Amino acid sequence: MIEFWNVSKTYEAGNKALRNISMTIQNGEFVFIIGRSGSGKSTLLKMLLKEVEPTSGKIVVNDMNLGKMPRKFIPKYRRKLGMVFQDFRLLKDRNVYENVAFAQRVIGASTKSIRELVPAMLKMVGLSSKYKFLPQQLSGGEQQRVAIARALINRPEILLADEPTGNLDGQNSMEIMKLLNEINKLGTTVIVVTHSQEIVDRMKKRVIVMDRGTIVSDEQKGGYTYEN
Ligand SMILES: Nc1ncnc2c1ncn2[C@@H]1O[C@H](COP(=O)(O)OP(=O)(O)O)[C@@H](O)[C@H]1O
Ligand SMILES: [Mg+2]
Repeated sequence: MIEFWNVSKTYEAGNKALRNISMTIQNGEFVFIIGRSGSGKSTLLKMLLKEVEPTSGKIVVNDMNLGKMPRKFIPKYRRKLGMVFQDFRLLKDRNVYENVAFAQRVIGASTKSIRELVPAMLKMVGLSSKYKFLPQQLSGGEQQRVAIARALINRPEILLADEPTGNLDGQNSMEIMKLLNEINKLGTTVIVVTHSQEIVDRMKKRVIVMDRGTIVSDEQKGGYTYEN
């Protein structure tokens, strides 16, 4: 479970990014966070990653108080989280296979593990046949699939996606959302920041709406009704 207790963030410049946010997200949930630019959505995700510290309040993830976490435990904690960005952030000079394998290499995974898991992840995201391609040889939707495979290969408990479809057209966006939904069904908690009201309307998930650093609504939109 993810818990925010009266969390506020004022950046050094004096920008109040979050104002007294309280909410909980259960393990296995799929949650959208929407809101106009500057409303604090990315700040909220960065706090979960421990890239940004709250000015006040408390964040607890699976009973761990992030504010009290010893520094040496942070890398291990971050492995519980997978992160996907709007601009994909792939290694430009490495092929698809190596981009996904990279996440395993940095944690010192064995060659055996890499050889088993990379093909399995590429299969899951539908890119088995393109494992030798460089990012620039792929469409935006395919690049984002590589980024998702990379984010998931170390089996995170939580997947954070900050505007993952911001650079994609409508069709590719829905396909990425479908993939995130499949991943969620396999048990990963998924938190997606998006600008797209259309995506949110079609997916029928919990939607947290932010405005100027506060949560202005938090509604469960019903079951999964997206049809192919
Ligand atoms: N590193 C930073 N330093 C100063 N102000 C920041 C920083 N990051 C974000 N902000 C400010 O905090 C507010 C919320 O930003 P952000 O969380 O990026 O919003 P969103 O992702 O919803 O667009 C904005 O006013 C933004 O300018
Ligand atoms: Mg943002």
